[in-house]
Amino acid sequence: MTPEQDYIALFEQYEPVCIDLGPGVMTDLSAEFLLSEDKPVVTFVTGGKSLSKSGARADMTNMVLHYEFESRIVCDIPAEPDLDDVARIRDAIEQSASSEVVAIGGGSVLDAAKAAWAAYQAGLDVSEFFGSGKISERFPGREFKRIIAIPTTAGTGSEVTPYANIVDRAAGVKRLIADRQIIPRMALIDPYYGRSMSDSLTAATALDALTHCIESLLNTGSPETKFATNANAVYAVRLIKDYLPLAFRDPDDVNVRERLCAAATIGGMQIAERPTSLPHLGSFSFYGQIPHGIAASMLLPPFWRYYLAEKAVAERTMLLADVFPSEAPQKTPDDVVSAAAAFIAKYAGAPKLSALPCFDAAMVDRIASDAVKNPIKLASAPRPVAPENAAEIISGILKKEL
Ligand SMILES: [Fe+2]
Repeated sequence: MTPEQDYIALFEQYEPVCIDLGPGVMTDLSAEFLLSEDKPVVTFVTGGKSLSKSGARADMTNMVLHYEFESRIVCDIPAEPDLDDVARIRDAIEQSASSEVVAIGGGSVLDAAKAAWAAYQAGLDVSEFFGSGKISERFPGREFKRIIAIPTTAGTGSEVTPYANIVDRAAGVKRLIADRQIIPRMALIDPYYGRSMSDSLTAATALDALTHCIESLLNTGSPETKFATNANAVYAVRLIKDYLPLAFRDPDDVNVRERLCAAATIGGMQIAERPTSLPHLGSFSFYGQIPHGIAASMLLPPFWRYYLAEKAVAERTMLLADVFPSEAPQKTPDDVVSAAAAFIAKYAGAPKLSALPCFDAAMVDRIASDAVKNPIKLASAPRPVAPENAAEIISGILKKEL
């Protein structure tokens, strides 16, 4: 094993989720289900056309036919799913009285399936779960069944996180469920599926993962845990920095795709313990306009510079000095942020925030007013942002970018 494959050992040790990464891992499903005492009734939850392109749909269909699972398939879950999408999955689970849920697709598909499976088991509307730990609070001592996740993109890390982002159209906001009861029980990650992604999707998803790792690293208020460590965060950032350019050069290289998948999953392990803060919080206001990973990563540098006033953040930043080198003889934290910002801008396809089509004064106001509604993310900012002056601080930071 080369040092670059340290992620294999990391995944083997990871207790919360059984992770298998490598070509052909969907076949693990048949072993899992054939070994179970009762024949499972499975609801498969999938995305749209991209699933066919990736080859995941064919793998799923072959497996279902071959092993004759009693199954139901819910297709076409869109990017940024809303409450209706979650209700559609929940209805399918209910009608077939499913005993297992398998989600195959990007983070949106995984998030929607996680929310629907928990809502079905709880017998509650999913909107009652918005916030932190609402399911666990309501059902103390109960262990919910958890989904099997088969991610086909390398970005959100949803396959290992306790999070589901669901759009509440009536309220006009994207809302977060955070609860350990929705962490998938198994993550089967096949790097082959990433080969069909366009360059822009490859970049948007990798930049999302990069932002998870950096925000988590900068989260000085949350202690390191067994898996969410500074070293693992830096390692995953380095994988993305080194391998994203290679994925652009040769989109079919499975070894390259595997590194990007690994980095995304490590990013999920990071944010599961040390959550994101202002850049991700701001990105929620862009929903429906630009890809989440582009919004979050382009918002990272201005908030990162704001955080640098904290000595602990400046020290953490220097852990990335070798990953994001600069010409300066005496490198400062600000140089590291600038070098990271240049990398992000290159792959996001926008030299600065103001080059994004939807970033204007109205968007700054919207981000600032939406942020106040999310005290959980404000609380995880490494430089304190009190809810009463959050709008003023956030709009002050972002107005400089207009
Ligand atoms: Fe994200």
